[in-house]
Amino acid sequence: MKKSLITVTSPLLPDLSEFNEMLKEIWASKWITNNGQFHKQLEKALCEYLKVPYISLFTNGTLPLLTALQALRITGEVITTPYSFVATTHSIWWNGCKPVFVDIEEETCGIDPDKIEAAITPKTTAIMPVHCYGKPVKMKQIQDIADKYGLKVIYDAAHAFGVEVDGESVLNAGDMSTLSFHATKVYNTLEGGALVMHDEETKKRIDYLKNFGFAGETEVVAPGINSKVDEVRSAYGLLNLRQVDDAIAKRQKVAQRYREALRDISGVRFFEDMTGVRHNYSYFPIFINAEKYGKTRDELYFEMKSAEVLGRRYFYPLISTFSTYRGLPSATPDNLPVATKIANEVICLPMHHALSDDDIQRVIDLIIK
Ligand SMILES: Cc1ncc(COP(=O)(O)O)c(C=O)c1O
Repeated sequence: MKKSLITVTSPLLPDLSEFNEMLKEIWASKWITNNGQFHKQLEKALCEYLKVPYISLFTNGTLPLLTALQALRITGEVITTPYSFVATTHSIWWNGCKPVFVDIEEETCGIDPDKIEAAITPKTTAIMPVHCYGKPVKMKQIQDIADKYGLKVIYDAAHAFGVEVDGESVLNAGDMSTLSFHATKVYNTLEGGALVMHDEETKKRIDYLKNFGFAGETEVVAPGINSKVDEVRSAYGLLNLRQVDDAIAKRQKVAQRYREALRDISGVRFFEDMTGVRHNYSYFPIFINAEKYGKTRDELYFEMKSAEVLGRRYFYPLISTFSTYRGLPSATPDNLPVATKIANEVICLPMHHALSDDDIQRVIDLIIK
């Protein structure tokens, strides 16, 4: 009998009847977008849940990256990593800036702080690190470098919903942090995203920028964009926020099962929890050492695929290898040895709140066979 498909992720969906009740309210109010009541409620609820002072909702996780760079008037060169989703680098490019790739460290898959200073030039104005898989990067070291050279820090925290270090949200680090609420993320609003900032003035400015630059009825203060979130998605987001803790707890159990089963498999490496960190278990990447494992990453990936188990080579290929970016001086594999190695080793295993025990076992059996 053909086995059912195990997907790498599955969206967290609100209860349909509760969603319907909220839709009725929206229909009755006829206020469907432009800072409606559910939009306001969601921003407030997210600030509380995420332990951040100010947040602005966006229609996806790409536009807050673009807008943060705009708001901080970033020019020249921006230091980032190639081990991310392509939107990170695109946002730098869209702002007319030059992305400068710095290698990652194996320990977090985030930017290697020891390699940042060598990439700084008189044109550098900002650093854009990524909390890859929701694993916090070395924020203190990054901030020290930024302070020393007068650089801004914008965190791509698309993966880091709810992640805390010693009780403090990682979203409070740097100048601003962005989130993605895409369907594949731990917390989703179908499509969606947000920008986290530290003060009311910046929040006001960001809210102008995501509304075409309008500051009041007749004044436009900047060449803003349209990234306003409607009431339907806000209502959906409010409902999903109620169940996200439960979803994270279920993901944690999946991670525990994977770790127990794979701990003694030669050539398979994975991340353990970090001390003092509240993880969100957004992904479960494993890294295959082909020599020790006896099979390459791709051989395992395609074997899984033919057994109806979908992993994801996330992040492969590196952003620095795409035609748009490979001509950059910092894009050479020599400059990025760790990122190049990791991109060839990684498979993100199926990871979501709805995986059954049998599903998890099927994934494990394929890896240990
Ligand atoms: C690291 C990272 N940054 C940015 C984004 C862009 O988010 P969105 O797809 O919501 O625009 C993603 C989405 O997958 C991501 O993984």
